[in-house]
Amino acid sequence: MPIIAIDGPAAAGKGTLARRIAAALGLPYLDTGLLYRAVGRRVLDTGGDPADPLVAETAARALTPADLERQDLRGPQADAAAAAVAAIPGVRAALLAFQRGFGAEHGAVLDGRDIGTVIFPDAGVKLFVTASLEERARRRWLELQAKGVPADLATVEQDMRVRDAQDAARIAAPLRPAEDAVLLDTTALDADAAFQAAMETVQDKMEAVQDKMEAVQDKLPPTTPVIARREAPKQSPA
Ligand code: C5P
Repeated sequence: MPIIAIDGPAAAGKGTLARRIAAALGLPYLDTGLLYRAVGRRVLDTGGDPADPLVAETAARALTPADLERQDLRGPQADAAAAAVAAIPGVRAALLAFQRGFGAEHGAVLDGRDIGTVIFPDAGVKLFVTASLEERARRRWLELQAKGVPADLATVEQDMRVRDAQDAARIAAPLRPAEDAVLLDTTALDADAAFQAAMETVQDKMEAVQDKMEAVQDKLPPTTPVIARREAPKQSPA
């Protein structure tokens, strides 16, 4: 099943890209950041501290699909709570099976921080999407403006700098590109140009995976029980 892992820091354009790639390939899409946001939100609801491992892990274990539909998962408070719960190993462990299960049946496009390094280390396609801090802060600020949320660009940039540092420095699944990830810097790219560049990589990688699988299958003796082996054309009944 094709798994496309798209990782990178906040507001690098991962979500838009991942959604478009999923639509183009007819694959399900999961924004894994929403899981951490929903856990953070659950903790805030109870008046707890998102950095408290016991409270956060309990919230992660109680997560339901309805939590992901909440309308209050974005904004500075949710950003900070998500980054805090995401640094707790027990929270990450509680969310692992759901993410793996999501891609298992039909393949999927997932975006996050650790998809290519931890969740699907064998993903056929890994993209690490980045952009300069200034550009990412500008994009987030424009999004807030469009939603009518009053925000100050310098504050948005500072919050983002802190969250990036937290995501990169944590011990549990820190933000970093997988060794075999293709880097895509979207600082100077609009959404269409980023999509085009990403699709070129996706197609190259998917073709390479296909070629590799066919080469392996062609080398197998005919008695090897391989479910995915291409079947010989059926003889028509005499
Ligand atoms: O991607 P988004 O900004 O919505 O993610 C919110 C927070 O969730 C991030 O700052 C990060 O700490 C955490 N996260 C993570 N691993 C993922 C996705 C998100 O740690 N796969």
